[in-house]
Amino acid sequence: MTSDNGKYAIDLHEVDKVYKGKVHALCSIEMKVHHGEIFGLLGPNGAGKSTLVKIMMTVVRPTKAKGTMLGQPIGHKPTLARVGYLPEHHRFPNYLTGRQTLEFFAALAKVDRPTRKKRAASLLELVGMSEWGNKKISSYSKGMMQRVGIAQALMNDPDLIVLDEPTDGVDPVGRRDIRDVLIKMKDQGKTVFLNSHLLSELEMVCDRVAILVQGKVATQGTIDDLTADSQRYEIVIDGQEPSWVNEFGDLRAESRANHQTVLILGSTDAGKVQPIIDRLRSTQTTIHSIKPVRESLEDLFMRAVTDPATGKAYQPGAASTKRKKKRAGEGS
Ligand SMILES: Nc1ncnc2c1ncn2[C@@H]1O[C@H](COP(=O)(O)OP(=O)(O)O)[C@@H](O)[C@H]1O
Ligand SMILES: [Mg+2]
Repeated sequence: MTSDNGKYAIDLHEVDKVYKGKVHALCSIEMKVHHGEIFGLLGPNGAGKSTLVKIMMTVVRPTKAKGTMLGQPIGHKPTLARVGYLPEHHRFPNYLTGRQTLEFFAALAKVDRPTRKKRAASLLELVGMSEWGNKKISSYSKGMMQRVGIAQALMNDPDLIVLDEPTDGVDPVGRRDIRDVLIKMKDQGKTVFLNSHLLSELEMVCDRVAILVQGKVATQGTIDDLTADSQRYEIVIDGQEPSWVNEFGDLRAESRANHQTVLILGSTDAGKVQPIIDRLRSTQTTIHSIKPVRESLEDLFMRAVTDPATGKAYQPGAASTKRKKKRAGEGS
């Protein structure tokens, strides 16, 4: 890591974007991405994820943006030479082969010819496209396009990789392959920033996440930290709720089907669960399972994207006040 990399790989402050003076797509974004981590930016469609990425990639001009990427101010074009970017809904020229596409983009990034050739071959291999490398883009499926798109983002051997919906349209096997690629990149010391509206796979790879809702960061941190409050033990037993449940602090019971009851201990401290097991055993209660449980990223996400006023998910799109104004304007 060079000294001009800055403390964080990405350190954003007060990022705002108002499209054409109407749609308030981003509002006072504060976000930190550590070097060498996989960071997931999650949010429903229309939350502003791509807008934020495009601002970092200098494709969209921010209304306001402070902060740095790889130690340089946001908008500093030369820094992009050290960044790999997979745009959303990318289109490559249909008449090129996958290999030619990779070499073409590497040439734009001023990678020398022998390195281009070598890297194209090894990256096609990495994304599982070696056998398709000499076939035309026009014959590729959506998943293959994504694979080649990811390889393209790696052709300049970047320090930071920014992927906008890398698993969009990719089947489950392909998604697992992409996860493996991301982990390999991290193992090589690279920083990965990815956008997604798909959660489960991110949960498996991301060190930290931010959830974006209607242009605002609803929450950010490690998945462990964000779900810490919800950690618990669940003990599934036969029969009714035991009469002594109230004697244990933090313990409650819920009925289950099949005459079973689940005892829920609001802690993942193994020491606290032992006396409960002793008590159950002393009363010859059958214990089916004991497991530590925590909120999934999906639960966390659903909580973040649910409007507490209505109990329903926020509608896709930017800040509602702006939309209402717009609609009112249209009517007049
Ligand atoms: N070029 C544009 N002009 C006007 N509005 C836009 C433009 N691009 C995106 N938006 C609006 O900004 C909001 C955020 O969009 P986007 O950043 O694409 O969200 P996401 O990637 O999370 O789905 C949406 O309301 C979208 O309609
Ligand atoms: Mg998007």
